Amino acid sequence: MKVSIVLAAGEGTRMRSDLAKVMHRVCGRPMLEHVLDASAKAGMDKNLVVVGHKKEDILEQISGENIVFVEQPMHDGAPYGTGFAVMQALPHIDDDCTVVVLCGDTPLVKNETLKDLMEHHEMNDNSATVLTTVMDDPTGYGRVIRKTDGSLLEIVEQRDASEEQKIIREINSGIYCFKASTLKEGLEEISNDNSQGEYYLTDVIGILNGRGYRVGVLEAKDHTEIMGVNSRVQLAEAESIMRKRINTLHMLNGVTIIDPERTYIEEGIEIGRDTVIYPGAVLQGRTVIGTNCQLLGGTRIRDSKIGSCVDIESSLIEESIVGDGTHIGPYAHLRPKSVLGERVKIGNFVEVKNANIADGSKASHLSYVGDADVGKDVNIGCGVVFVNYNGVSKSRSIVGDHAFVGSNSNLVAPVEVKEWGYIAAGSTITDDVGEGELSIARARQVNKEGWVEKKGFKKHK
Ligand code: UD1
Ligand code: CA
Repeated sequence: MKVSIVLAAGEGTRMRSDLAKVMHRVCGRPMLEHVLDASAKAGMDKNLVVVGHKKEDILEQISGENIVFVEQPMHDGAPYGTGFAVMQALPHIDDDCTVVVLCGDTPLVKNETLKDLMEHHEMNDNSATVLTTVMDDPTGYGRVIRKTDGSLLEIVEQRDASEEQKIIREINSGIYCFKASTLKEGLEEISNDNSQGEYYLTDVIGILNGRGYRVGVLEAKDHTEIMGVNSRVQLAEAESIMRKRINTLHMLNGVTIIDPERTYIEEGIEIGRDTVIYPGAVLQGRTVIGTNCQLLGGTRIRDSKIGSCVDIESSLIEESIVGDGTHIGPYAHLRPKSVLGERVKIGNFVEVKNANIADGSKASHLSYVGDADVGKDVNIGCGVVFVNYNGVSKSRSIVGDHAFVGSNSNLVAPVEVKEWGYIAAGSTITDDVGEGELSIARARQVNKEGWVEKKGFKKHK
C-alpha cells in the first residue's frame, strides 16, 4: 500500500498572512490542492494531511477521496517541526507501507516525478530515498551532504549549516520515499537539539545512514518542480512557473496566446484550436472554450461553456453558456444562468442574468435582460430594461420570435410579448402584447404652437 503524508501544519510566518500558508492560491487553486492532485495521480492509496496552524481554513475547503486529516498538536501555539508533524501520521500507517512525504508548500511537483521517486526507491531496495535538485540559489533550503564516494550522508538545514556547507547547491526538496518501518525507527531517534528547537524530519536521513540502512537520492532534473513557497515573492514565482506550464500546453494544442505572461488560465480548462487569446484574459473554474474564438481586452470567464467562433471583448462571463458565432462586448456582463444561442449579439454595457436568448437575437447597447426567455431574431433596442423585481419577488418575461422591443422600453414582469410583437420606443409594457401587434405605452406628444414667444423667453436671450 502506498501512503502519502502531506505536511501542512506549519506557521508560514514568512507569508505574513492570516490565511494558512498552504491555502494560498497558485493559478487559482490552493497550493495544498495541487500537491494532493499530484499525489492522487501518482497512485497513492491514502493521503494523510497533517494540519495544525490555521487548520480551519484547510478543513473547510479541502476534501476528497482517500484524504484523511491528522492533527498536529501545537506547543505554546507554535508547531514543532517537520519531524514532529510526520510522527502524528504514523499511527495511521502499517509497517509494510511505502510512504511518500510531501510538503503542502511545493505546489509545482508533478505526479510523474513522484512515480519516478517511488520506482527508484523500490528498484534500489532503499529504506529511504530523498528527492534532491541543484538550485542556482540554494538559500533557505536544507543542503544535501554527500560522502566522498558520492553517496548521501545527511541533510543539514540552512540555519545549522557551516559556511562550507552553505556553498553546496544540491538541496533537499522536502519530498522523500520511505519504508514505513524504517521511517518509524528513524523518527524515534531524532531530537530538537538545533537552532530552531524543532524536530527535523531531515535528521532521519543521517540517523538511518548511521544504522546502515540503504539511503538513496534521486536528483530531479527540473528544479522548478521542487520550489518551496515560503513568502509572497516565492508565491509569485510559483504562479509564474505554473502559468507558463499551462499556457505552453494550450499553445502546443493550437491555441494562440499573444502574451503568455499576461494570460491567466487555471488548470483543467479546455480551449479549442485556433482560438486567439489577447493579454489580460482570465479563464477560471470549469470553463470550456470552443475553436476559432477571440478573447480580447481582459475578458474574464468563469465556469462557462463558450461555443466556437465566438468573439468576446472586455467582458465578464459567469456560469453561462454561449452558442457558436455569438458576439459579446465590449463591457458586457453575463451573470449566472445566462444561455445564449448561436449568432446572438450582446453589445456594449449589456447585462444578462438567468435568461435564455435564442439564435440571432440582439441586445446591442445598454440593456438589462434579467429573468427572461427571449426567442429567435428578436431586437432589443438601446436602453431596454426587463423590470424583473418588485422589491419582494422576481418574475419572468417572455419575448417571442421576431419581436421588436423599441429603445428605452421597460417590460414589467411578468409579461409576454408574442411573436412579431412590436413595441414602440419609450413604452412601459405592463400587459401582454399579442402576435404582430404594435404596442405604444407612453403619453401622446402635444406640440403647443408659439408657446416660447408667448412666454416672452426670446427677449431674455
Ligand atoms: C523544509 C526542509 C528543508 C527543505 C525544504 C524544502 C526540514 C527541517 N527542512 O524546510 O530541508 O529544503 O523544506 O522546501 O524539514 N510543517 C508542519 N509542521 C511543522 C512544521 C512544518 O506540518 O511543525 C509543514 C509546513 O506547513 C510546510 C512543510 O512542513 O508545508 C515544510 O515546512 P517549512 O517550515 O516550510 O520547512 P522549510 O524551512 O521550507
Ligand atoms: Ca518550505
